Amino acid sequence: MIRKKVIAANWKMYKTPDQAGEFLREFLPLVADHSRDEIVVCPPSIDLCAAVEAVKGSNVAIGAQNLHWEKEGAYTGEVSAGMLLAAGCTHVIIGHSERRQYFGDTDDTVNLKLKTALEAGLTPIVCVGEVLEEREAGLTEDVLRRQCLRAFHAISAKKVAKLVVAYEPVWAIGTGKTATPQLASEAHLLIRGEAAKAFGQAFADNLRILYGGSVKPENAKALMAEEEIDGALVGGASLDPKSFEAIVKY
Ligand code: PGA
Repeated sequence: MIRKKVIAANWKMYKTPDQAGEFLREFLPLVADHSRDEIVVCPPSIDLCAAVEAVKGSNVAIGAQNLHWEKEGAYTGEVSAGMLLAAGCTHVIIGHSERRQYFGDTDDTVNLKLKTALEAGLTPIVCVGEVLEEREAGLTEDVLRRQCLRAFHAISAKKVAKLVVAYEPVWAIGTGKTATPQLASEAHLLIRGEAAKAFGQAFADNLRILYGGSVKPENAKALMAEEEIDGALVGGASLDPKSFEAIVKY
C-alpha cells in the first residue's frame, strides 16, 4: 500500500506574521523540488494570511491549529471553518493534546470540529494519544480506541475522505522522548483498525496516520521507514527552516 506521506509543521504559539514570512522565504527554495511528500505548515491563526500569501504557487500548504464548529457567533477568541477557508487554509489540526489539556477540547468537541472541517472541505489532522500515566497503567489501547471511536462518531464514510490522523503520545511531545518506531507502529495499527471499523477497510488502507512527538532530523528516517507511519507532525524541530527541511527530506 503506497500512501503519500504528510510532513506537517505545528508551530504552536511561536512566530509573528513577519517571522512566518521570513521562515517561508528561506524554507520554500529548500524544498521547491520535493514532490515525494505533502508539506504542510500550521502557524498561529494571526499568521495565516501572511503565510498563505508567502506560499502562493509553491508546494507547501497552510493549515490552522484549531477551529470552532459554529459558522459564526458570540464565541470570543474563536475562528470558524469559513474564516480559515477564506484565509486560504487547506488543513486544520484538531484535538491536539495541548488543546485537550489546557483549552477544554474533549472527545465530543473533537468530533464536532472534525465534522465541521470535513463539511467545509478542509483536510483535518485529528490528534490522538495517551498520557504517560495511561501508558504506564496499560491503558494505551483503551484510550486510543475511545478517542478514535468518539472522534469518528456519526461521520459518514462518504464524507471522511480527507481525514488524516496523528498519533501523538503525550509523553513524547516536547520532551525529547520519542516513541520507538516499533511502539508507534503498534499504535498506528490499532488506529487503522478503528478507522476500518468506522469507515471500511478500503478507507483505512488509504488513511494517512502521522506520528508526532519529538520528531527531529536525527530520528525522522527511522520513523518514516516504518510501513505503518505515513508522515510526521513536528513541533519544536519545525521552527527552523533547515531543521524542518532535513525532516521533510528524511
Ligand atoms: P514536538 O511537538 O515535536 O515539539 O514534540 C509535536 C506536537 O505537539 O505536535
